[in-house]
Amino acid sequence: MIKPGAVKNRHIGAIFNMIEESGFRISAIKSVLMSKKEAEEFYKEHIGRPFFPELVDFMSSGPIVAAILVKENAVEDFRSLIGNTDPLQAKEGTIRKLFAESKSHNAIHGSDCDESANRECHFFFNEEDYLEKHP
Ligand code: CMP
Repeated sequence: MIKPGAVKNRHIGAIFNMIEESGFRISAIKSVLMSKKEAEEFYKEHIGRPFFPELVDFMSSGPIVAAILVKENAVEDFRSLIGNTDPLQAKEGTIRKLFAESKSHNAIHGSDCDESANRECHFFFNEEDYLEKHP
């Protein structure tokens, strides 16, 4: 998910270019303006953490771009491509190093395991949205 800051700063194209160049296939893509309730639901595992209110406000402050990406070893490889949650800690050349403004406004989200990926795909998409069903 490309976060509102990176959408506002016009980094959608550059970020998807890096994603495709890194061997991911984009299987579904959609722009969504989340309500606060939807942002709370998406990030419910973080309820109670000190950064949760700011996270929800930010994630509902403007449109995000959600995508389903396909690749062998996708979760781990995508986490390497996006880099550390905090752009100050992220390696050179990672998406967050290049495009994040801060730890809370960090340009992009990637699922942390296959189970979260499955939940997060279903959060934004119906299976008929997947592009391979419409070749
Ligand atoms: P993300 O990968 O989207 O998952 C949860 C988000 O919470 C994370 O990226 C950060 O943007 C945010 N986050 C996590 N830890 C902190 C923190 N300590 N301070 C501020 N934001 C945080």
